Amino acid sequence: MASVKLSVKKGDLVEKKPVKVDVSGKNVFLVMIGGNVFAMDGVCSHRGGPLEKGALDGYNIKCPWHGAIYDVRTGKVSASTPWGKGQASYAAKVDAKTGEITIDI
Ligand code: FES
Repeated sequence: MASVKLSVKKGDLVEKKPVKVDVSGKNVFLVMIGGNVFAMDGVCSHRGGPLEKGALDGYNIKCPWHGAIYDVRTGKVSASTPWGKGQASYAAKVDAKTGEITIDI
């Protein structure tokens, strides 16, 4: 696991608008909810749907392809959509002064 500083800063994020980022060749998305930043694998474990294009409902994001629902805080799939598998989620640390985001990946 390595700490990676992202090119996106907290000030670039819009509340509840997921953003896709490339982190060392890995597709991850960031989303800010209630001022907190969450990071999760962006490729749906079902058939590779783009999760950053999914609809948010609270902390849940719904894959736009077949509707698997994941909790952005944990990456866990909802029991109501068992065709998805758990996604990796990453702790996002935000520098209070600069807004720089670092994730452990
Ligand atoms: S690709 Fe995401 S639910 Fe099928």
